[in-house]
Amino acid sequence: MKIAPSVLTADFTNLVAELNSVRSADYLHIDIMDGHFVPNISFGPAITKQISKISPIPLDIHLMVTAPLKWIDQFAQSKPQFITIHEEANQVLESIKKIESHHIGVGISIKPKTPVSDIEPFLDRADLVLVMTVEPGFGGQSFITEALDKVRELVKIRTENRYTYEIEVDGGINQDTIKLCRDAGVDISVAGSYIFNQKDREKGILSLR
Ligand code: DX5
Ligand code: ZN
Repeated sequence: MKIAPSVLTADFTNLVAELNSVRSADYLHIDIMDGHFVPNISFGPAITKQISKISPIPLDIHLMVTAPLKWIDQFAQSKPQFITIHEEANQVLESIKKIESHHIGVGISIKPKTPVSDIEPFLDRADLVLVMTVEPGFGGQSFITEALDKVRELVKIRTENRYTYEIEVDGGINQDTIKLCRDAGVDISVAGSYIFNQKDREKGILSLR
């Protein structure tokens, strides 16, 4: 299982040490919120670029914004591994093409109430599919178990069509819920509070793996 700590729960006054403490993880998950797509605001491309300069691991940018197309060029400057947009956002196909034009991995995400069928037309060009296991907006919420049916469906679609996307889950991941994710076929788990609320982050990451 690959692990992507979500920087949202990190201590931003001590960011260099915080990022170093999770250097054994696979990706650093970056939650971008615009106060419109979700009822919260996080930070933007300038802070993300600074994070990219001190992060020992590649960035996995999760855009929880209504108009991703407007922002992709700026976030691309951080040279992330993935930029993920939401299916429920505006101009999905145009945004996918924009991410591709930067040679960055294309991620497509769905909220808990959105069915997999809504993203089927885009799956052939996805490098990552992010299944939200909480309503996006805040860290520290409880895992929605029903979302795992979507993971199983995505595994099946991938096999049938020989697609190559990785399947990621985000929200409510801890030592117990990650086992359910592994059994369902998840490739990458995002974890915010579980990792950053522990003193020994390496141990936290290892226990999730
Ligand atoms: C939720 C964010 C998540 C969040 C996860 O909107 O997309 O990445 O930081 O936090 P935990 O792991 O605490 O649920
Ligand atoms: Zn996220």
